[in-house]
Amino acid sequence: MAGHGDPIKMTARRGGALQGVAEVPGDKSISHRALILGALSVGKTEITGLLEGQDVLDTAKAMAAFGATVTRLGEGHWTVEGVGVGGFAEPEDVIDCGNSGTGVRLIMGCMATSPISATFTGDASLRKRPMGRVTDPLALFGARAYGRAGGRLPMTLVGAAEPVPVTYATPMASAQVKSAVLLAGLNAPGQTVVIEKTATRDHTERMLRGFGAEVTVEVTAEGNRITLQGQPELTAQNVAVPRDPSSAAFPVCAALLVPGSEILVPGVSQNPTRNGLFLTLREMGADIAFENEREEGGEPVADLRVRFSELTGIEVPPDRAASQIDEYPVLAAVAACARGATVMRGVHELRVKESDRIDAMARGLEACGVRVEEDDDTLIVHGLGQGGVPGGATVATHLDHRIAMSFLVLGLAAQQPISVDDGSPIATSFPVFEPLMQALGAGILRSK
Ligand code: S3P
Repeated sequence: MAGHGDPIKMTARRGGALQGVAEVPGDKSISHRALILGALSVGKTEITGLLEGQDVLDTAKAMAAFGATVTRLGEGHWTVEGVGVGGFAEPEDVIDCGNSGTGVRLIMGCMATSPISATFTGDASLRKRPMGRVTDPLALFGARAYGRAGGRLPMTLVGAAEPVPVTYATPMASAQVKSAVLLAGLNAPGQTVVIEKTATRDHTERMLRGFGAEVTVEVTAEGNRITLQGQPELTAQNVAVPRDPSSAAFPVCAALLVPGSEILVPGVSQNPTRNGLFLTLREMGADIAFENEREEGGEPVADLRVRFSELTGIEVPPDRAASQIDEYPVLAAVAACARGATVMRGVHELRVKESDRIDAMARGLEACGVRVEEDDDTLIVHGLGQGGVPGGATVATHLDHRIAMSFLVLGLAAQQPISVDDGSPIATSFPVFEPLMQALGAGILRSK
């Protein structure tokens, strides 16, 4: 589990152009869901391209604790023999979700309507994050949560013995909350409805349909109205996990920032609920070509050809926030190397991620000589143009994989090397980050 070993200090420094092919691992969101829906199905689900990051491994372990048979056949190749909707057994021990908000929130959802109890915990980052956003709607099904002050882990969830279906309008743009409610709705009779004002990643809806549930989405004046028919029989499927656009973001941004670079990042999901960063980068002047557009594993994908580009700061449309929510840290690093200000509004959710990402990016960028402005919901980065970031700092990553990777990307373009105090959390989402970046020619090394 990330953050439980010794910290790994890492340093990135300027060097030659990045070249080559960056085959990033499987999508984290889809990997969690494939394991969870496999566990809730009847029969043997076969998964290829599963991300073997620690977050997903923790979810695999949790599914086994609830009674599924989870087997690793080879790299990224797993099977899950499920117990069927409503078939979860009570785990014998505490469920440790490590660093993963997605893992804990989705798993709480799918056990909340079974007559069992489970106690959840996680690492120091996860234990700070709010769980009330899922336990509030899960209480409407009849589940009860007993946690620390502020709805923090460790927390015991007592599932509803006689669940009732729920209609719930999510108060924040959160796919995790939406998914927790839909997964709870699986074992409730009748229709469970989630209304979301802003569309968030739709992998749960897509995959539920793929496993045989009836899920409809209506576009209404209040937003998307998602209806699930409860108590379906889910049937095991073969799932091919596409590559993760959120991991692709790091080599893509590195190639944009390092003069002379040209790389190819194949098979990156272009799901419109996930592709906001690539649209934003193109508006900033990035040379990104979408080649060989096709469908893989039920998701639209493309090969991205990325060339070094001189970028200009923009006002990022706030209604794009949900489709690039995990990419703001690396966007802030890119913005530091653009000409002029990049204004990111409507980003309050960044405050409750693996770290407070507005604060972590603001403090780290300041330490690297970049001027920023922030308020509760906004981050403005005053870019210094290509080659203009002084760097020469060691940045605190607060157990946050994306903060670590973002500053290592910035270090490739800064005048002086940039270090991060702890790169170990990178293993939660992108375990091959170091060798992949090194193979492109990036000067990223572990340091004393
Ligand atoms: C995720 C949803 C997002 C995202 C996280 C993965 C998911 O969180 O930040 O990395 O797989 O559902 P929120 O739903 O809390 O915005």
